[in-house]
Amino acid sequence: MKITELQSEILRLKKEQDVCILAHSYQTREITEIADFTGDSFALSVKASKVPNKTVIMCGVRFMAETVKLLSPEKTVYLSNPVAGCPMAEQMDKEMIAAFKQQNPDYTVVAYINTTTDLKTVCDVCVTSSSAVNIVKKLESKNILFIPDCNLGSFVAKQVPEKNIKLMQGGCPVHAAVPYSAVEEAKRLHPDALLLVHPECVPKVTAAADYVGSTSGIIDYAMNSDAKEFIIGTEIAIASHLQYECPDKKFYTLSKELICPNMKSTTLVDVYNILKGRGGEEITLDDETMQKARVCIDKMIELG
Ligand code: 13P
Ligand code: SF4
Repeated sequence: MKITELQSEILRLKKEQDVCILAHSYQTREITEIADFTGDSFALSVKASKVPNKTVIMCGVRFMAETVKLLSPEKTVYLSNPVAGCPMAEQMDKEMIAAFKQQNPDYTVVAYINTTTDLKTVCDVCVTSSSAVNIVKKLESKNILFIPDCNLGSFVAKQVPEKNIKLMQGGCPVHAAVPYSAVEEAKRLHPDALLLVHPECVPKVTAAADYVGSTSGIIDYAMNSDAKEFIIGTEIAIASHLQYECPDKKFYTLSKELICPNMKSTTLVDVYNILKGRGGEEITLDDETMQKARVCIDKMIELG
């Protein structure tokens, strides 16, 4: 079957079954084309909570599907490919964080949204890469433990020097692997391009950027800028999507290694199979876990 034929069949089945399809912006073009909404993980969860559809398919990674379920417990939520996890989301041990909180009651534990629902149950507030600085600024506590991403955490610490921010050794294996030499090489090849970087990259890379922000922040910045050339320091899908959106501008990826294998594991066939009743994984979370994890999500909504 041709890609376009499969896409048409998915669109037909989706309409017939009244299903909402979400695609994180790191998904391939063929997936974003069949989605009702494309964006970052939290924005997608909010969108899904506002649509009337009772079934939602998340094309992204597991913590994203879990966030959709947390915001819409009454909906049936599928993760399109069950092997798609985010390694960073699973880096911290829940018991260790709970013990830290007990020993350091004056610390507020801030969890990046890229964490499991189970880990969120012992954290105080969630943040996304776009809301982290703003939310940490607003917290009452001076002492903060920021988990799991030490690169995003150190970016936040630089913007909010009035807080005492403790970090742990976690991070995104894809973004954190980009060496500073990639910046030197990309700038040598494209001296007129602006460098836009995700805060999951190491501090030496973010320090060299013209703009540091979330995936949606990078997309908005590039689309609204008068500049004509951009080096994109996040998953390669973003440079590709931007190139379709702005054909008169030029987009280069900071490194050809910036490919998230988990994000890329979802295929059109995965989505098709769910609609045929034979694939994906339905997300199930017990009520107590959902209630506890909602506390830090609700705090993020209140402060964000
Ligand atoms: P955003 O929240 O910026 O979309 O990031 C999600 C992610 O997984 C980044 O690697
Ligand atoms: Fe996780 Fe990094 Fe992939 Fe984002 S790019 S889903 S943080 S592994």
